[in-house]
Amino acid sequence: MADMSEKFFVTSARGLEELVAGELAGLGISAARVEKGGVSFQGEMMDGCRACLWLRTASRVLLLLAEFPCSSPQELYDGVRGIDWNRYLLPEMTLAVDSVLRDSTMTHSGFVALKSKDAIVDAVRDRRGRRPSVDTRSPDLRVNVHLVKNRCSVSLDMAGEPLDRRGYRLDRNKAPLRENLAAALVAFSGWDGETPFYDPMCGSGTIVIEAALLASRTAPGLLRERFGFQSWPGHDPGAWRALLAEAGELRRRELGVRVRGLDRSPGAIDMARQNATRAGVQRLVSFNPGEFGTFSPASSPAMIIFNPPYGERMGEIEELAGLYRTMGDVLKQRCAGSTAFILCGNSELAKQVGLKATRRIPVWNGPLECRLMKYELY
Ligand SMILES: C[S@@+](CC[C@H](N)C(=O)[O-])C[C@H]1O[C@@H](n2cnc3c(N)ncnc32)[C@H](O)[C@@H]1O
Repeated sequence: MADMSEKFFVTSARGLEELVAGELAGLGISAARVEKGGVSFQGEMMDGCRACLWLRTASRVLLLLAEFPCSSPQELYDGVRGIDWNRYLLPEMTLAVDSVLRDSTMTHSGFVALKSKDAIVDAVRDRRGRRPSVDTRSPDLRVNVHLVKNRCSVSLDMAGEPLDRRGYRLDRNKAPLRENLAAALVAFSGWDGETPFYDPMCGSGTIVIEAALLASRTAPGLLRERFGFQSWPGHDPGAWRALLAEAGELRRRELGVRVRGLDRSPGAIDMARQNATRAGVQRLVSFNPGEFGTFSPASSPAMIIFNPPYGERMGEIEELAGLYRTMGDVLKQRCAGSTAFILCGNSELAKQVGLKATRRIPVWNGPLECRLMKYELY
């Protein structure tokens, strides 16, 4: 019988939990439970690794190590120290401890993190003679300590860096859409991978690239250089290589349709092309400079997904109203038979589109509550 002894919690942005559960089911992990902010499941260690390799819409995969009642520093120290750290940490590795506290006797998260760190390094020193050191920026091991209502849970961030850091987008300065949110927009649309796909305001190309990765069945983790769990002493490199090999074989090198992006900014188009090359999907996509006002899909039905600028200040919002009206006109006049999804961060602007949305899906772009508006264009 398979060993289902590990417990995992997959975190996601608010609103994406059901998508993550659907993805897990697609990986053969069926008894997942949707909770607020994520999805929990039980399985073998390699199920956690598989989740890191394949999940598109999730943020992190946490491996739960222990849960215990905890209302004093000593209980915290003993509980953390009782974990078998030798499976995950060697003295030459570095670690960082993050803590989150709610409704508990201990109220200082910095202290809880420090006390937990002490317990961990003491446990390793007792067994191996030397202590690992702390690196808060880029540690080999990220430990999460959650203390809620005097109950402590200790978990490891399996991937280390969040899963949306696929590695293909090097320039993250301009606050483009996160990779996992872009993947979620494509997933919400139900795009079949066969219908022509357009993002007519593609910026650095994230939605287009995620659509191409999905349609080509590329495991997003194949693009990453490494995952945190690869440096754990208990890691099974042979089983991991088998997962990578399987993912490599499933990857499709050709698509029936091309995934296209358009943007008025030549600099954005240049960036999108570079990102697509780094993601290995350059032959599946095309990016062209152009004004949205000239957009029309080459054939119908097409799937059109985009996130236009929202504007933050009053003046900008007034300026953008015209663009949103143009969006409505272009969709109505030139995209009949197609389906469009627009990610809107401003409900006043969304009204300017002037078309009747058939669905409004709440999603969070960082702290900003947005609506993914669906328009069926007849
Ligand atoms: C919020 S950004 C899109 C970000 C993109 N999803 C990404 O991942 O980088 C909006 C984009 O719309 C483009 N844009 C704004 N007005 C446009 C217009 N009239 N025609 C074409 N593109 C436009 C901007 O150049 C910008 O790149």
